[in-house]
Amino acid sequence: MCGIVGYVGEDRAKDILLTGLKNLEYRGYDSSGIAFMDNDIKIIKSVGKIKNLEDKLNYENVDDYKIGIAHTRWATHGEANLVNAHPHTVGRVTLVHNGIIENAKELKEELINEGINFNSETDTEVIAALINKYLDNDVIKTISKVMDLLKGSYSLGIIIEGVKDKIYIAKKDSPLVVGISDKGNFFASDITAINMFTNKFIFLDDNDVAEVTKDDVLFYSNGKKQEKSVNTINIDVNSKSKNGYPHYMLKEINEEPVVLEKTLKPYLEDFSSIPDLTAYGEIHIVACGSAMYAGMIGKTLFEEKANTRAICEVASEYRYKNNIYNNKTLVILISQSGETADTIAALKKAKELGQDTLAIVNVKTSTIAREADKAVFIEAGEEIAVATTKAYLLQVAVISLLALKLAYSKKLIDNIDTYLDEFKKIPRLVKNVIDRENEYKNISNEISNSNDVFFIGRKLDYAICLEGSLKLKEVSYIHSEAYQAGELKHGTISLISDGMPVFGILTDKELVEKSISNIIEVESRGAKTIIISKESLKQNKDLEICVPDVSSFTIGLLIVPVLQLIAYYTAVNRDCDVDKPKNLAKSVTVE
Ligand code: AGP
Repeated sequence: MCGIVGYVGEDRAKDILLTGLKNLEYRGYDSSGIAFMDNDIKIIKSVGKIKNLEDKLNYENVDDYKIGIAHTRWATHGEANLVNAHPHTVGRVTLVHNGIIENAKELKEELINEGINFNSETDTEVIAALINKYLDNDVIKTISKVMDLLKGSYSLGIIIEGVKDKIYIAKKDSPLVVGISDKGNFFASDITAINMFTNKFIFLDDNDVAEVTKDDVLFYSNGKKQEKSVNTINIDVNSKSKNGYPHYMLKEINEEPVVLEKTLKPYLEDFSSIPDLTAYGEIHIVACGSAMYAGMIGKTLFEEKANTRAICEVASEYRYKNNIYNNKTLVILISQSGETADTIAALKKAKELGQDTLAIVNVKTSTIAREADKAVFIEAGEEIAVATTKAYLLQVAVISLLALKLAYSKKLIDNIDTYLDEFKKIPRLVKNVIDRENEYKNISNEISNSNDVFFIGRKLDYAICLEGSLKLKEVSYIHSEAYQAGELKHGTISLISDGMPVFGILTDKELVEKSISNIIEVESRGAKTIIISKESLKQNKDLEICVPDVSSFTIGLLIVPVLQLIAYYTAVNRDCDVDKPKNLAKSVTVE
């Protein structure tokens, strides 16, 4: 997944495009580049973070350009090097691309047979070659013709030598938004790249093509001109500040009590506003990464508390399943960005097969928020750290409320006020947990030099392990695995060695004895066990962290911040790039 941004107007394109790129850096930071256009097209590229491009531009005479297209890359086709950095030029065509062209190899072979030479390993260069090949006076028609040849996903920003003052854009399956202002017009992969310049946005739909000039934007779909509605959206810009924290990740963890309060409040004040799922015989929860792990907590609660069959699958697998809808099924899609390609594909599949879809999503203007039958929003605000923390926690909170409502609607619990009061206390309890940072620093010191760490637990505790393990490995680069405590002895226990840290999550009274047996099994093989438990199940171990006793509807909301902070301090101990871990991107908009 990459980020693209472009501008045509009265102001200095360099400043606007660099700002846009910095706000898109969460989408990938292997390399970046800008193509400026006036009577000529000037391209500047660099490997690594946007700062490297900015430094390079300081030595270039580009301040007078008013038009440009820019790109920050997360490598999919070809190494993260300068040759593969965007923008790419073939003949008169220069463009930037976010997405993956699945038939790029075949198209490239045909073009090479026609005598066209390529410099890079990218699929993007193939698009430029095709547009250049078919280029005539009707650029919109040319682009539409090339789109018919492409399989896969793309959002494109295109400039044509000799066609001054115009940028062309096109979209299919990768997000693309236009920004409108009286000093020029913009395009970007998402509004956070340009919301500091305008609050007027137009979202492109699949197969849209547009011609962007300083004073106008003309939209076409399948070659026909079309009008699009303008959305006024105001974004809270102070999310860009770290507010004094050393990293966005720590800032965003500390925001968890506030955003929990903001998200829970309307539902706790009006319980009837929580969607009632009693009509469904089965619930499918589909997401990627941490969002899927939030779904695993939901699955456990739907099954255990609401007596409803629930499956939870990664979207990249779910989208290829067949014969999976036997009962009246609700498909719940969880996504912070609302632009994760695999989750979008799963959403489309569920809708094509006639299933009801409900999205739990943070970005209200995102594709998933707009295309799901119903959207339940979390109020995380902008989450900048690539490793999700506050958004994940809100995903857990919302899906837990859905499970609570379902259990209540099915008359499986009657003391609903007890549970609602518990949810009301959660923001303060989370604040108290977060403030115990010295305990987490101590645990981090115990694991920071480890090569391998395990997290073990049963049922809900296993679901918690999944996120704790992902958080640790994605920010500290320590290899980590979450394992069902009862399953470890069926092979993987052979990996346990002297001093290897194993986190044991203990919150389920009915299973605690069995989980303790599993903890003893690894201890007897040399593991250094670290217990994360709730007060009533305290084991009085040297390395143990207890959180207050709450029900299984909310225990995950107290345990996971502990694991997030342990991961954070471990990454800091290991001098990792906490907010932008290597190889990652915040929103995976490619499949
Ligand atoms: C988690 O820290 C990662 N950032 C990643 O697993 C993320 O949760 C996943 O890519 C899903 O993203 P989404 O919520 O925007 O769909």
